[in-house]
Amino acid sequence: MKARQASAIASVVAWEALDSRGRPTVACRVQLGGGAVARAIVPSGASTGAHEAVERRDGGERYDGWGVRSAIAAVTGELGPAVAGLDATDRARVDARLEEVDGTPDLARTGANAVLAVSLASALAGAQALGRPLWQVLATTDSGGVPSRRTLLPMPMVNIFSGGAHAAGAVDIQDVLAVPVGAESFAHALEIVARVRAATAGVLRRRGLSSALVADEGGLSAPMSDNEAAVGVVCEGIEAANLRPGADAAVAVDLAASQFGTAEGRYHLRCEDRELDRADWLARLADWCGRYPIVSLEDVLHEDDWDGWTEAVSVLPEQCQLLGDDLFATHVERVQEGIARKAANAVLVKPNQAGTLTRAESVVREAQRAGLGTVVSARSGDTEDTWLADLAVGWRAGQIKVGSTMRSERTAKWNRLLELEHDLGRNAVLAGPEVFGRSTPVSDLRT
Ligand code: PGA
Ligand code: ZN
Repeated sequence: MKARQASAIASVVAWEALDSRGRPTVACRVQLGGGAVARAIVPSGASTGAHEAVERRDGGERYDGWGVRSAIAAVTGELGPAVAGLDATDRARVDARLEEVDGTPDLARTGANAVLAVSLASALAGAQALGRPLWQVLATTDSGGVPSRRTLLPMPMVNIFSGGAHAAGAVDIQDVLAVPVGAESFAHALEIVARVRAATAGVLRRRGLSSALVADEGGLSAPMSDNEAAVGVVCEGIEAANLRPGADAAVAVDLAASQFGTAEGRYHLRCEDRELDRADWLARLADWCGRYPIVSLEDVLHEDDWDGWTEAVSVLPEQCQLLGDDLFATHVERVQEGIARKAANAVLVKPNQAGTLTRAESVVREAQRAGLGTVVSARSGDTEDTWLADLAVGWRAGQIKVGSTMRSERTAKWNRLLELEHDLGRNAVLAGPEVFGRSTPVSDLRT
């Protein structure tokens, strides 16, 4: 079918931009026949899962090998020409064409960073041609063209203390996050987590630990000889901020265990100079859940230890969300396997792990159908783009994870959500703490 002239892709251009770590990344601008034009810049991870779509890097000496000129050339030479003339409002068609041109399952040939840049910029331009923000286009697709009930704003999980690959290994575990479970609005949610961050900085200062160290996602960090201390310091921060732990603000932890564990179940804790087997490691996490107000644990085990994950679901407390990031790698088949094995109860959704918007969307739908939670997530190397916030709202994800409350690539997403809450007024509602319970169907959320 011939695309309508106004929403047909007329030009695709790409260039090298920088992400928040100062590394090159792919920027792409798509212009449509009717004049709509949109740009997207793709993010990039540091604790990258083995099963993610593969980003293309130049290697060599330039930018220590992180350059993306080859990915840019793929956009200009192959991907752009292949989607020219397609209707940008038909996201599935555009993305199918991009996958077809690349021809590899993990998009390694042209590069998942090249493919995602075109996918996102096309979707944004298509939304503009329709005269609607992206979240609204995604929301109306979901409900068969009828705008959904009240718009669900995601509960944020906000990085307070960082370790692992984001903070030069200050501790082994990667993120300790605050979750403002008692918030009444999105604006109130941000206010709560900003208070936790400031108070946690004070706790670190009083202990003589440098709070000046800012990690990749804008979180605090300081070297510690015990992983639990990182959880403890954030909980102390909640109390020091005069908030009720578990009622006003709870805690989430991203262990990112593939970074220090093996598929065979050995967990090497460098900062403690000890190694635990899987059973002892899970017993330790269960103990933390008993003593701290933890509502979500992410990547508790190695990404290829499927049996271990099933065990984790039975060993760890029912009320704690078990979230798969590297485990699922935003890949629909891995999510299906997880559902069959009962290996987790929530899925982290990172568009650049998938490589196209359509692939990421199918992961969200698959998870929601099975009653799994969904957390739309930024990367540790991110950009000033705000589309991630639109994805979380449009897909009714219920949760979003972006990093800290500071640094502009992070606040860009928070500020977009504040804008939406402001504009929607009483038509918006913040997702409540029920999103962390196991098997809460998205339709039962408080809308
Ligand atoms: P990454 O970290 O972007 O470095 O993978 C984010 C996360 O692990 O959730
Ligand atoms: Zn993670």
